[in-house]
Amino acid sequence: MTDGQKRIERSGTVRIGDRTVHRMSFGAMRLADKEIWGPPADRENSIRVARRAVDLGIDHIDTADSYAFGVTEEILREALHPYPDDLLIATKAGQTQVRPGEWAPVGRPSYLRQQCEASLRRLRVERIGLFYLHRVDPQVPFDDQLGAMKELQEEGKIAHFGLSSVTVEQIEQARRVIDVAAVQNIFNVAARMGEDVLDHCEQERIPFVAWFPILSGGLAAPEGVVAEVAAELDSTPAQVALAWLLARSDVLCPIPGTSSIAHLEENVAASSLRLSDDHLARLAALRLPEDQLAQLAAVGSARE
Ligand SMILES: NC(=O)c1ccc[n+]([C@@H]2O[C@H](COP(=O)([O-])OP(=O)(O)OC[C@H]3O[C@@H](n4cnc5c(N)ncnc54)[C@H](OP(=O)(O)O)[C@@H]3O)[C@@H](O)[C@H]2O)c1
Repeated sequence: MTDGQKRIERSGTVRIGDRTVHRMSFGAMRLADKEIWGPPADRENSIRVARRAVDLGIDHIDTADSYAFGVTEEILREALHPYPDDLLIATKAGQTQVRPGEWAPVGRPSYLRQQCEASLRRLRVERIGLFYLHRVDPQVPFDDQLGAMKELQEEGKIAHFGLSSVTVEQIEQARRVIDVAAVQNIFNVAARMGEDVLDHCEQERIPFVAWFPILSGGLAAPEGVVAEVAAELDSTPAQVALAWLLARSDVLCPIPGTSSIAHLEENVAASSLRLSDDHLARLAALRLPEDQLAQLAAVGSARE
């Protein structure tokens, strides 16, 4: 076992359906270009980052059909196919990117089915390990969106189903139709919206996958309480943000995204960082200003 693999062991594990994965996971969105709109400037670099993630013991990688129109799925295939048996690749359908930075839900069953087929081909798999409904589309009855996912599961095209950016009520409505193997919501130490969803997942033992775990890079800033704690622990602010998430709940999996091998190694190393009660108390006081929280809530809205 390499040092990186030993470190990731310390993040603990969760069960996603019939799979056990390390809680410290990897978000592949940043393997595309900066706007998540096209291929990265340096494709070889993105391939190296994906391979390094697996070398470091990452066994749960998150992506989506809409990240640069499938570019990140293609890069994962190029980097990692044939995939290691223990690697869970999660992808999503149900959200499109209309213009760079402008996202819209599309939950029509025919569209979800088409996108599932496209992801199967891009990833070159016969079954998707974990397939999320990326957003609940308010224009389509929720049960129709869930029914489409249930059909894909019954046909063997997806192994497990997950929900992204949802409320407790939506999780419980979904569970009446289909097993929910994971929930993926926006969550980090400075933007702890939807803590009721995390608490519910903890109670129901549903893995909670936290997106924007380092606030899209914002928590890596060299000033503020996160940076102060990092300096005391001889670590980095991004590591403190990730360690806080791991400490927050044993069902929580952070999926930090990066296009940098150095950042990836740093993020995985956060698996073994432990925060004291004093650090946790100081970090608990951190909260983004209301206008920024409102902006983030709109991006990660569970009630669109
Ligand atoms: N379900 C959803 O609706 C949804 C929405 C958005 C994202 N996601 C998922 O969540 C994952 C994470 O989201 P994200 O990538 O937007 O946010 P993030 O993980 O909070 O932050 C990523 C940003 O932080 C920087 N970064 C990463 N590690 C760093 C480090 N150690 N030090 C300094 N900077 C660092 C990265 O830049 P560098 O490339 O320079 O490292 C990147 O710009 C995505 O990859 C995607 O899989 C899901």
